[in-house]
Amino acid sequence: MIVMGSSSWKAGEPMVRIELPTPAPGKNQVVVDVHAIGVNPVDWKMRTAGPLRVAARALSAVQGPKPPVVIGVDFAGVVAAVGPQVQGFAPGDRVVGGCNFSRAQRGSYADTVVVFPDQICKVPDSVPIDVAGCLPVAGVTAHMALTDYQPVGPASRVLVLGASGGVGQFAVQIAKRVLGAAFVGGVCSGKNAALVRELGADEVFDYTAGDALQAAAARGPYDVLVDGVGTYPAANCRKLLSACGAHVMVAGDKAEHMLQIAVPPFRSKAILATPDGAHIAPVLQAVAEGKVVVHIAHRLPLHQAQQAHDLSQSGRVVGKIVLVVDRPQG
Ligand SMILES: NC(=O)c1ccc[n+]([C@@H]2O[C@H](COP(=O)([O-])OP(=O)(O)OC[C@H]3O[C@@H](n4cnc5c(N)ncnc54)[C@H](OP(=O)(O)O)[C@@H]3O)[C@@H](O)[C@H]2O)c1
Repeated sequence: MIVMGSSSWKAGEPMVRIELPTPAPGKNQVVVDVHAIGVNPVDWKMRTAGPLRVAARALSAVQGPKPPVVIGVDFAGVVAAVGPQVQGFAPGDRVVGGCNFSRAQRGSYADTVVVFPDQICKVPDSVPIDVAGCLPVAGVTAHMALTDYQPVGPASRVLVLGASGGVGQFAVQIAKRVLGAAFVGGVCSGKNAALVRELGADEVFDYTAGDALQAAAARGPYDVLVDGVGTYPAANCRKLLSACGAHVMVAGDKAEHMLQIAVPPFRSKAILATPDGAHIAPVLQAVAEGKVVVHIAHRLPLHQAQQAHDLSQSGRVVGKIVLVVDRPQG
């Protein structure tokens, strides 16, 4: 198998093409031929800094895997082999899932991954495999943000900060077209305003034209404010909330962000996505039903993972970046 990996956890270590022995599944494991890999900011953050890098690095020292270090969570592809105890999946199934560093697994920047059955779900034929590969982290995060703390329903008013980004695009569409929110506002730059409206936002607040939170206040209060940017003051976000509203901090992995959850009246909540099969399924269903459309801004071959990280790190990506493995697409 081929991975894009680094020889150690040293910060900024380049990702290079490495050939490893092709794995066989354990008793309750599934081997997946990977076709597409969604790129997320956490991927490049894990190469340089942040709490997930610290956790993954510490865990790998104790339980493995040994280097090369392979990052990446999202993948979609076709089941190649299953262990004897696996039920519900068979070779040839199209699947999507998320690698899990806490289960001693390598990441998804590879042409093959080995995971447990609860980490994947089947992809209907109507959903292209590269679209499926974009769902795990960003789609699940958006869905959890809108359902875990203050569940969004037909009476809800929702504000999404960073509405043009990977998580933001899912959040706008899921809030409006899946959960049926009464009002969805999107904060983005003017150049992305038309797109965010197309995704279902009732109103767009251009952060390049003034104080977007102040502009959004006129259409509040909000039951859920999804923060996919992390630079807007949390106190100002909380001011826009209804009495039971939640400020869900998707972005913000620094200590000062985490401290916000302890500020009375405890309306700021931190979220950490769990991109497993059960959490991916409702997002996948929404895509299959045509309620959620995935805007893929860049498709790059797996060996251009570094270029994908440079694009993601620019903070300007509209929608998703996907890495494709050079094999026939499903
Ligand atoms: N907690 C979790 O489990 C979890 C899961 C997924 C992501 N995250 C984090 O959430 C953040 C967002 O992730 P992502 O995948 O959505 O990132 P992304 O796709 O890279 O976000 C880029 C988008 O953000 C927009 N943006 C940048 N500054 C903005 C501002 N001040 N106001 C409004 N929009 C702005 C950009 O549009 P313009 O070019 O127009 O500015 C661009 O479209 C990252 O920090 C990521 O690490 C956390």
